[in-house]
Amino acid sequence: MGVPSLRKRLVAGNWKMNGSLDGNRRLLDELLAQSDVQPSAARPDAAQPNAAQPNAARPKCEVLVCAPYVYLPQLADALRESGIALGAQDVSVHAKGAYTGEVSASMLADIGCQWVIVGHSERRQYHQESSALVAAKVVAALDAGLTPIVCIGELLADREAGQAACVVQDQLEPIKALGKDVVERIVLAYEPVWAIGTGLTATPEQAQDMHGQIRAFMESDRLRILYGGSVKADNAAELFAMPDIDGALVGGASLDAREFLRIVAA
Ligand code: PGA
Repeated sequence: MGVPSLRKRLVAGNWKMNGSLDGNRRLLDELLAQSDVQPSAARPDAAQPNAAQPNAARPKCEVLVCAPYVYLPQLADALRESGIALGAQDVSVHAKGAYTGEVSASMLADIGCQWVIVGHSERRQYHQESSALVAAKVVAALDAGLTPIVCIGELLADREAGQAACVVQDQLEPIKALGKDVVERIVLAYEPVWAIGTGLTATPEQAQDMHGQIRAFMESDRLRILYGGSVKADNAAELFAMPDIDGALVGGASLDAREFLRIVAA
């Protein structure tokens, strides 16, 4: 359907505050056993001299998982050369110093992260993160070589009041103000708050409508825009068929390896 996009699909798992050393090991084992995501051919040291898997097809989709800070070293180890990349769920706006409890972008890079989620609605809601702070985190992440996945999305009350597009634009404004160069180095995730963890997914048409408006507002054909909010194996394909939906940020369903990989394959 539609014109094939040049934007590579991306599926990111957001484990949120879930996991344990044992549980993660089981989930990672299942993910790696069932995954046909291959190591990136761009990295010569990752070449697999395994004759049983000659010329493994390029993944049609980039895949990553974002885990709680404390488990990142465990995941970095397990996912090395797996073709599944690693991300954190938040980052400090500060580079270093007297900020007790904070973790800097360079620390995340140091430990093997390539990605970081910023501005998730749960951070905006429970930690009062403003859109200006989120934009500052984008800069901190990029400065350390991480790619930020910037979350935006309206509350149910905003949608019911016909304000969804305005709210999302307000959230995007400080990001857009960073300039086109920044905009094309980030990924956005449109996550209507009423769809997160509720089992209520936006319809593909509702999501496409907002993604189209976001792309127009950000003035970029190259920017990848993920959809998030109760994405499951059963609804992923119809969402991904939409021309401006470039993948998904997956919460609950990323804790089940089979379900997550069915979304990756959708
Ligand atoms: P959900 O979460 O898939 O469990 O709705 C998505 C998210 O919050 O990123």
